[in-house]
Amino acid sequence: MRFRLEPLLHPQRVSELQTALQAADAPWRPGEETAGWHARTVKNNHQLDRHSDLHAALAPSLRQPLLEHPLFRSAALPVKVHSLRFSRASAGEGYGRHVDNAFMAEGRSDLSFTVFLSDPASYEGGELVLEHPDREEALRLPAGHALVYPSTLLHRVEPVRSGTRLVAVGWVQSRIRRAEERELLFELDTARRSLFAQEGKSEVFDLLCRSYANLLRLWGE
Ligand code: NI
Repeated sequence: MRFRLEPLLHPQRVSELQTALQAADAPWRPGEETAGWHARTVKNNHQLDRHSDLHAALAPSLRQPLLEHPLFRSAALPVKVHSLRFSRASAGEGYGRHVDNAFMAEGRSDLSFTVFLSDPASYEGGELVLEHPDREEALRLPAGHALVYPSTLLHRVEPVRSGTRLVAVGWVQSRIRRAEERELLFELDTARRSLFAQEGKSEVFDLLCRSYANLLRLWGE
């Protein structure tokens, strides 16, 4: 299951990020430096130096809103959000077809996310394309919106044809390793919340809560 956070960031925060990332002295590095051995051959973009002061200053402004977002919490069940990086692609740059590494220095990747930081009207191309078993899905979200998708999917970023595409990407280690189990828990959580909204704390609500908590105990880690 993939889902959108619409929006994740306030417009004010987005424009602050844009200004900081587009500053002349922002420490951008070739993206291939942080790709795995096979992804390196198709990764053609730039990334903000992860050891820079600027990265350290900007990263919390994304991690915090994610961890506080109700949909993200319910659907991703995060243990942690990790390996955050800011990425820039200008005309001719993109990121060819690949799958993300399962294990990274900071954790396991169960879910991947992209936070779009550029106004879609300011660049052409640069679609994030997800390869589902039966179809391809090309996405360009408004600035400040985020897409969260299973790290199990092959995906790519189409070449940017004009302008500059700024995004932040990162990964989630979830309490629930399997996507099907995460989806069932998300549906159950949604059902009990809507029941609570309709009739408050009822006998059926208590039973749903019990099932939810006990499935988390069974499947969670
Ligand atoms: Ni990727």
